[in-house]
Amino acid sequence: MPDAILVGYATRSGSTKEIAEAIGATLRAGPREVAVKPLKEVKSLEGYRSAVLGAPFFMFRWHKDAVSFLSRHKGTLANMPAAVFALGPFHDVEKEWNDVRAQLDKELQKYPWFDPIAHEVFGGRFDPSRLGFPWSLIPALKKMPASDIRDWDAIRKWAQELSPLL
Ligand SMILES: Cc1cc2nc3c(=O)[nH]c(=O)nc-3n(C[C@H](O)[C@H](O)[C@H](O)COP(=O)(O)O)c2cc1C
Repeated sequence: MPDAILVGYATRSGSTKEIAEAIGATLRAGPREVAVKPLKEVKSLEGYRSAVLGAPFFMFRWHKDAVSFLSRHKGTLANMPAAVFALGPFHDVEKEWNDVRAQLDKELQKYPWFDPIAHEVFGGRFDPSRLGFPWSLIPALKKMPASDIRDWDAIRKWAQELSPLL
């Protein structure tokens, strides 16, 4: 797949995967081939001209698959157009958005060699029925109401604007 765009994602309960798929579908309207894959399955960036990387935050940490992807592919990512997105506030409250944006900025500062062409925070989904271990053991979390503030129009718009840069 020479000259393709990689849309790579990390996920625990699937909401980031669905966003990656929506970004992939939007980018496919452009001239390039697009592969949407879990970051942990991408062994090499050969054949890709550019990348969009997405991963959620959990307990103030970026998903470990995103962290290890950045270190595994440092040499290549430093020299290809790459965009980043992170999830995710799940209440539409300004403070929550600002905190997560600051969290992503802080995370990206750990990789001074990495200069993404764009980075964005998207709202996420909280579903108490999908809590994985160890969070499924925390009664307070299981009682929290479900929410999903993913804004599909904003996600598609972001991808459309990125398309010519990738
Ligand atoms: C236990 C737990 C901790 C979380 N911690 C954070 C966090 O620190 N920062 C944040 O922005 N979102 C946090 N979230 C929200 C997730 O990032 C959000 O639910 C996202 O949509 C999950 O993505 P996934 O479905 O792809 O796994 C947390 C969610 C859960 C369930």
